[in-house]
Amino acid sequence: MHVVITGAGGFLGNRLARALAERGRLRGAPITALTMADLSAPEPVAAPFPVRSRACGVAQRDQVDALLSDGAEVIFHLAAIVSGQAEAEFDLGMAVNLTGSLNLFQAARALGTCPVVVFTSSIAVYGGEAPDPITDTVLLNPQTSYGAQKAAAEMILTDMSRRGFIDGRGLRLPSITIRPGRPNRAASSFMSSIFREPLQGQEAVCPVPPDYVLWALSPRRCIENLIHGAELPGQAFGPNRCLALPGRSYTIGEMVEAMRRVAGEAPVRLIRWEVDPELMRIVADWRGRFAVEKALRLGFVRDESFEDNVRQFLSEELGRG
Ligand SMILES: NC(=O)c1ccc[n+]([C@@H]2O[C@H](COP(=O)([O-])OP(=O)(O)OC[C@H]3O[C@@H](n4cnc5c(N)ncnc54)[C@H](O)[C@@H]3O)[C@@H](O)[C@H]2O)c1
Repeated sequence: MHVVITGAGGFLGNRLARALAERGRLRGAPITALTMADLSAPEPVAAPFPVRSRACGVAQRDQVDALLSDGAEVIFHLAAIVSGQAEAEFDLGMAVNLTGSLNLFQAARALGTCPVVVFTSSIAVYGGEAPDPITDTVLLNPQTSYGAQKAAAEMILTDMSRRGFIDGRGLRLPSITIRPGRPNRAASSFMSSIFREPLQGQEAVCPVPPDYVLWALSPRRCIENLIHGAELPGQAFGPNRCLALPGRSYTIGEMVEAMRRVAGEAPVRLIRWEVDPELMRIVADWRGRFAVEKALRLGFVRDESFEDNVRQFLSEELGRG
């Protein structure tokens, strides 16, 4: 079983590679090779099977063809330009999130073996006039360029799966928090930084009011879900190849209270509340409440509480507790 990950140098791609290395198996077979690809060749993870590292810009079809020239049974397509940057740089978002995804799907099709393709979409595909909570059959109505690019790629993934070219699965990720490292250009970056920085004794600005509701999932559960998405038989998805993953709805205020319960008063005092109207313009329409019956029925998972996410960050990223 040869597995390929695009965006493998990123936050989730790297964690996915490590999780696959630990498991050693996928879809009932041993993993015999893992190819990690990103704009520049990512650091290969330690694994009991060969791990190759490749530079591949997904916006260039010839580079994607070269990446898949050794074949692949399972491809996790994570490479993307995140929401804030895709809003600021329209052409770049189109090239990577839309053309890059189509390049990947076409190159996978060209293998002629109908490989499994797990595509990381986003709940940014929803917005505008839509019921609250969002249910499994709500129409996609993205209100950002990032969401529109993801939604368009989802359509083609579903059609190419219907045609039997690829075995696609599109998973709409909640906001994955708490993300370690430095702030990135995702509009959702604050959803991690207001916990990550204070838990390390640094100040952070919260650019939304405490009653802002978000749909969140921890990195660990997200990776479990990406792997589960590859393990399920394609027929399990039915004609809707793309679905919203489970998460939990919290207000920012509830999340801060959860951090207080786990880590005490000190980190909470390091949050400065300062609404950013420009950022609110992007995130105001993101949906925070979902009824994800299909994903739960298919065995996708979520956290018990945001306290879990805080404890996970403290133990896995900061080596505390
Ligand atoms: N983290 C989240 O909260 C979240 C939420 C919803 C959806 N997603 C989706 O999950 C996936 C992974 O997200 P992440 O948080 O790890 O993001 P990330 O920014 O950490 O990783 C994305 C990777 O894609 C790479 N990339 C960018 N342009 C590329 C190109 N032209 N060719 C090849 N690689 C390129 C980047 O170098 C980066 O390493 C993305 O598809 C993202 O849209 C993430």
